[in-house]
Amino acid sequence: MDIQYLLGLLFRWAHILAAITAVGGSIFARFVVLPALEPQPEELRESIHAAMRARFAKLVAAAIAFLLVSGLYNFFVIVANYELPRWYHPLFGTKFLLAMAIFAIASLLVGKTPAAAAMRKNTRTWLNVNIVLAVLVVCISGVLRTAEKVPKDEAPEAKAESAAIRAGFCKPGGRGLI
Ligand code: HEM
Repeated sequence: MDIQYLLGLLFRWAHILAAITAVGGSIFARFVVLPALEPQPEELRESIHAAMRARFAKLVAAAIAFLLVSGLYNFFVIVANYELPRWYHPLFGTKFLLAMAIFAIASLLVGKTPAAAAMRKNTRTWLNVNIVLAVLVVCISGVLRTAEKVPKDEAPEAKAESAAIRAGFCKPGGRGLI
């Protein structure tokens, strides 16, 4: 089996699993943990929160590391091997910036610094912001996935056919104009 195919598959699995963990964890924290803790006495709330924060911080750090490594690997393989539509790079740039904002907010929310403590006074709002940004990132990723990726080493006739398909002149696999 081709090593590049295998690596691509492993990184794709890592990317999707890390995204599920980070986004699912934030949704669970916002819509299950926060409302469940709200009616509890402050002392109990704080001790449960402290116990959860340390554990969730490890998950968040691992998810960020996996998303960055697998995402950068995917990106460089795609850019090196395929010709991409003109909108691909600006849309990828937007996704990257949104992901950085999500990572910064998530790291601060689970951190131990005074800035983290100040941010946690508005945990509900910051979790809302991160969930909205994460939904946007997943939607953008879905669009990136549908981008037509033409292999750079494709034979000139195949390239011409791809261009013709894009321009609506030809059906995939078809020989001539329709
Ligand atoms: C909150 C963070 C992120 C989430 C939720 C996320 C989610 C996703 C999802 C759901 C996919 C589609 C997977 C598939 O169908 O195979 C994807 C693809 C991808 N992601 Fe991410 N991602 C995140 C961060 C990143 C980062 C930081 C990078 C780059 C450093 C990155 C680079 C990519 C690339 C290159 C693809 C493939 C796009 C394509 O098919 O053209 N992602 N991501």
